[in-house]
Amino acid sequence: MLKAITGTKDILPIDIPNWNNLEGIVHNAMNSFNYNEIRTPIFEETRLFSRGIGESTDIVGKEMYTFLDRSETSVTLKPEMTASVVRALLEHSLDKQFQLNKLFYISPMFRQERPQAGRFRQFHQFGAEALGSTSPALDAEMILLAYNILKSLGLTNFVVKINSLGIPSSRENYKNLLKEYLADKLNDLSEESKKRYETNILRLFDSKDKNDIKIMEHAPLLMEHLDEESLEHFQEVKQMLLSAGVPFEVDPKLVRGLDYYTHTTFELVSGSVGSQSALCGGGRYDLLVKQLGERDVPGVGFAAGIERILLAMENEKVLPEVNPKIDYYIVRLEKELNKNVFEIATKLRIENSVEFDYTQRSVKAQMREANRLGAEKVLMIGGEEYERGMAVLKIMADGSQEEIELAELK
Ligand code: HAM
Repeated sequence: MLKAITGTKDILPIDIPNWNNLEGIVHNAMNSFNYNEIRTPIFEETRLFSRGIGESTDIVGKEMYTFLDRSETSVTLKPEMTASVVRALLEHSLDKQFQLNKLFYISPMFRQERPQAGRFRQFHQFGAEALGSTSPALDAEMILLAYNILKSLGLTNFVVKINSLGIPSSRENYKNLLKEYLADKLNDLSEESKKRYETNILRLFDSKDKNDIKIMEHAPLLMEHLDEESLEHFQEVKQMLLSAGVPFEVDPKLVRGLDYYTHTTFELVSGSVGSQSALCGGGRYDLLVKQLGERDVPGVGFAAGIERILLAMENEKVLPEVNPKIDYYIVRLEKELNKNVFEIATKLRIENSVEFDYTQRSVKAQMREANRLGAEKVLMIGGEEYERGMAVLKIMADGSQEEIELAELK
């Protein structure tokens, strides 16, 4: 039997109300913070992501769906949106039209990771990017926006973790300190961390290896070596979050898996979904636009994993109850009336949701189906009433019935 590819998932009709509910809440929140939607292609030139996300990241190093198309161009299914949004901003000179661009998206993403609960190869993110200002108010706004959305969805078991990665110059000094600290411990590190020591040393804080964790426990922290400007920026973000009533934890070991961050980084982490617990991640990226397009446009943003959020909602038992509902179900008393039922349904469907039986079921079975579909009204067509242009209308809520004229139905 043919099956969906490992790590991909069908979203079945039974799941759709949950997706629609979530997307509706995302649209409302984005609207109240004045973010406008952007949609970009599913695939881009590979070099956009390798340059944007960083050659030494796991995403670029081993997770991208990259292939040569028929004209030998290397293309990649988008593993994230930030690079694509920046590409679109530059290509359409949005930064020249508006000083500040506040954009949001809901889109599938692709990463060839090892599938497990909450981790897929095709997954969906919603997210936002604000391009054109270094104001810490936007860092705080992003965190608040993500926080509000998770709260509106009914989630309570999650924490907001924030950190600052400062600016590259203070980070470079700090990386040297970290290198010094680790120099005589190299042999004790895991193979993966030995590699990262050379390519992306900050990621050693992300290691799941017990020994690595022990070693990193006493490592110097970037937070203790930030420059004045970065500390001030971070201080302002924290104050605004406090004033907005967003509870947060400063986690000086929070390093993110993408290379483009400067200043604030953050994650919203769930206590309800097992090891893949990051529901949302983001941060400031003041140098990315310049890196991709020679124009100086600071940015900040976040993205959240929809599948993970839905899993958290399921585990916290806050998925909304879904009751099917249609306006009319038409019950046909005699088989000969199929054509007439079709005509009545067609007319009613201009203003209402309407269903009827296509399979010659008994009257009893049709009534059962009307109940299953949550029909508000059942219209019974048949017999001598029909000859007189009449039908029986049953209101399901109270079981009352009355004879009505077919011509007057709306
Ligand atoms: P990210 O941390 O790579 O950040 O992904 C954001 C969220 O997407 C994660 O917290 C997680 O919920 C979800 N996610 C990531 N990978 C998977 C997967 N394989 N399966 C299911 N869910 C997944 C970014 O993508 C950045 N673009 C965020 C950003 C926007 N930073 C600034 N602006």
